[in-house]
Amino acid sequence: MISKHTIDLVFETARVEEVIGEFVQLKKSGSNFKGLSPFSDERTPSFMVSPAKQIWKDFSSGKGGNVLSFLMEHEHFSYPEAIRFLAKKYNIEIEETVESPEQQLQNNERESLFVVSEYANLYFQDILFNHPKGKAIGLSYFQERGYREDIIKKFQLGYCLDEWDAFTKDALSKGYELDYLDKTGLTIVKEDKQFDRFKGRVLFPIHSMSGRVLGFGGRTLSADKNIAKYVNSPESEIYHKSQILYGIFHAKKEIVKEDNCYLVEGYTDVISLHQAGIENVVASSGTALTPEQIRLIRRLTNNITVLFDGDSAGIKAAIRGVDLILEEGMNVRVLTFPDGDDPDSFSKKVSSEELKDYLQNNSKDFINYKVSLLLEDAKNDPVKKAALIRDIVNSIAKISDNIQREIYVQECAQLMHISEEVLFNELAQLHKKELKELHGASFPEKKSFKVLKAPSAEETQETFLQFLEREIIKLLLLHGNSKLDFIDWEDAHDERGRYQPKEVIHNNSVFEEIYLQLQADEIEFTHELFRSIYYEIINLFQQNGKIVSDALVNHAQFDISKEVTNILMEDEKHVIGNWAKRDILIKPKDDQNEVVKSVTDCILNLRRNLVNQKISELKNQFSENTNGNNNESLDLIMKYKGLEMLLSDKLGREV
Ligand code: CTP
Ligand code: MN
Repeated sequence: MISKHTIDLVFETARVEEVIGEFVQLKKSGSNFKGLSPFSDERTPSFMVSPAKQIWKDFSSGKGGNVLSFLMEHEHFSYPEAIRFLAKKYNIEIEETVESPEQQLQNNERESLFVVSEYANLYFQDILFNHPKGKAIGLSYFQERGYREDIIKKFQLGYCLDEWDAFTKDALSKGYELDYLDKTGLTIVKEDKQFDRFKGRVLFPIHSMSGRVLGFGGRTLSADKNIAKYVNSPESEIYHKSQILYGIFHAKKEIVKEDNCYLVEGYTDVISLHQAGIENVVASSGTALTPEQIRLIRRLTNNITVLFDGDSAGIKAAIRGVDLILEEGMNVRVLTFPDGDDPDSFSKKVSSEELKDYLQNNSKDFINYKVSLLLEDAKNDPVKKAALIRDIVNSIAKISDNIQREIYVQECAQLMHISEEVLFNELAQLHKKELKELHGASFPEKKSFKVLKAPSAEETQETFLQFLEREIIKLLLLHGNSKLDFIDWEDAHDERGRYQPKEVIHNNSVFEEIYLQLQADEIEFTHELFRSIYYEIINLFQQNGKIVSDALVNHAQFDISKEVTNILMEDEKHVIGNWAKRDILIKPKDDQNEVVKSVTDCILNLRRNLVNQKISELKNQFSENTNGNNNESLDLIMKYKGLEMLLSDKLGREV
């Protein structure tokens, strides 16, 4: 594990504007920097970076955070990957916390496998471009296939000489250990002999999401049917076939931008599409898609378009795999190419514009596609048709969105010339069966078929409460440490014995004031996230005697750091919570400081809410309780009513 010390040092050193400046063109704008959002296509800049607060906010997508969350959002780094990236940029030495000897060995081994793979990658590229045989055989093969040099370089394609151990010898002479060459599969070790696994093959390095080389696919140049067309790296500590998608590193940005991912079969399909200008594409590398691979895509988008080869046998096989994508809760479309073509060959027959048009205009919704395809076979065969209905219903049942599912039922009923009831019945039966087998359910969030209802009065009340809670957090973040004069009321009665509270002035920090007031009424935040932030703020205050918003911006809990950033950035944009819009009228009191006024208003509103709640509880009791004892409740109700009037008066509102 990276030590806390290193993480702190990274945070202290890294400048958000410098790091983001590497990815987005930033222009100074007042005390901030502005640029075009890297998360959407926009013409007017709405992406802001605040050097003072060390945070960023993208107003077009709503994303925002600190330097780390930028790297995680934009580069799709994991937390440690982002820390390592920054440490490298700022020349900070990474200190690892003490690990158990086994852990250390395992991490060192993984790291060593990465190092060997990276070396091999450079070596194979060097051979392709600089070795006479590499140029004559490897490079010319790619050129004959029409690959441009910039694309060959982008994908780091290489060549392994057609000799038994040219690569292994070279690596050993450079000091790389045979053990790691063996474990990555780059070298095949047989007793005292060693062979290059990829001998005589052109190489496609396979990258992780963050761009590290995990393994290779090696294509033979021979047309001999007895020779395997591809040889791939074997499973190892770093190469897990089921968790890898070829091209994900080069595609991730465009997948997010397009909010769609094209899925193809092979290495060459990915590369050809890139060459034609389509970059949101990954390959499953010829195997059935696994849930891990689908989740890799789901980190970037919810939409997959599967590109099938033209031959129909392949299509039917591939269709089965697609249900898995539905199960992961994603939207699937399919696209087929004219007979015999795959994305690679098709992209070479048409211009780049024609290809883009074709992809744009020919994708079909998966379920409709499946129905029309299978219906051909089943048309006049009732037994087959019944099976088909069950099959389709199975697919539909995998969709988690209620409305979408219903639309599918309607469409499929039409396509198959059967009534919607039949389909709904099938669905309901399937659902029953699944409930019984629930323990092994593969899709955890499957919802029952419920109709959404309009929000009730209670729910509206809830959003108002949340608005107040958020306002309080905002006041704490922006002004928590300021010392101000607050007016409080002490219980008192006038000479005729009527309740007439007396004004007292306290000089408190905003934090103290809010804390004490909420404490007095035992008011708890209802919204979970705001409650956690509030507790964090209390913690910080207890530790440091003041609120340090940095600690919250850089909070390890992502939703906290995100919300805090959002709140801080709202201030930057002057979109201060609009009370008037929410129909909350406030009597302006010119002699009071703005902040004092907001704090007081928030607290009074929360208190008023509490009182209202009490009143309605009592009223309920009152109406349920028909025999005796009612005087007491009535008394209480009257008292609370009095309190409510008082509070409303302070808030300057009509009751
Ligand atoms: N594949 C494999 N091993 C094989 C054959 C195929 O791992 N023996 C995988 C590769 O990842 C390959 C994909 O399946 O990219 C698709 O196979 P295929 O269409 O035969 O290869 P292409 O990559 O399209 O290669 P080419 O265009 O040269 O035919
Ligand atoms: Mn192919």
